[in-house]
Amino acid sequence: MADTGSTPNPFPREIMPGVRVCADPAAVARATARQFVDWAWQSIAREGSFIVALSGGSTPRELYRLLATPEYRAQVDWPRVQLFWGDERAVPPDHPDSNYGMVRRELLLNVPIPPQNVHRMEAERPNIGRAAHDYEETIRKVLDLNEQGFPRFHLILLGMGPDGHTASLFPGSRSPQQTSRWVSTPMVSKLGAKRMTLTLPVLDAAKRVLFMITGAEKAEVLRQVLEETADPPYPAQLVQPRDGARYFLVDEAAASKLLSSDEPSAQTDGKTRRRP
Ligand code: 6PG
Repeated sequence: MADTGSTPNPFPREIMPGVRVCADPAAVARATARQFVDWAWQSIAREGSFIVALSGGSTPRELYRLLATPEYRAQVDWPRVQLFWGDERAVPPDHPDSNYGMVRRELLLNVPIPPQNVHRMEAERPNIGRAAHDYEETIRKVLDLNEQGFPRFHLILLGMGPDGHTASLFPGSRSPQQTSRWVSTPMVSKLGAKRMTLTLPVLDAAKRVLFMITGAEKAEVLRQVLEETADPPYPAQLVQPRDGARYFLVDEAAASKLLSSDEPSAQTDGKTRRRP
């Protein structure tokens, strides 16, 4: 990056309700780690636990690495944290593509979380449909349900692909918007593989949903998602917590096409706009 003489702003700047822009992917990871620690404190103080669904892919890797550092590790009461996954690839846990495997290497091996508090998706099982049912039963044992009968996570971390997919809810996939299921196993045609994923109603039932999005290749889709102009809507656009807050922590590259990214910071309340 050319030396403009001005150092990048170390603090995220708010550009619209719930949307904060950070200088680069490392700053997105730091801001998310900060948020994770704060929300853990709040949830554990109020409800005795912090129940989180983690995201896969490459973007959150630095976050998991940071949370395992002495600086952050000591600020979280890990025995009161319950970890789930938002989605998983149909591979064994030691496979390089495993979302669980990545989190285990970067975080789980380095923090004092009891193994019984870690709930991975067994998406490698031959009967992935059965595995999805079993995962719903595990969720039922740990989480409270909202009025609509869906489990209410304290936090769901999400990413977004350049095609607007989130978790393993892909555009054009038959993952229905309205379903009574909590966990589904779509065949993702573009990958030629099955995935296991939390369903949209479960994402919408969360107390907080936080998207971590970095990279210029996602700028156009992010613009459409936030300005709600895509038709049909991208899966990431459909995530609108019913009684919760939706947050975005993005880097300058991903925010480069947002009209409001140059305007002075807007006052935010994290409240989302309702689906029209
Ligand atoms: C996965 C993820 C997926 C991810 C996006 C973005 O299992 O791949 O859960 O939804 O968040 O594909 O991936 P990157 O962070 O690698 O760009």
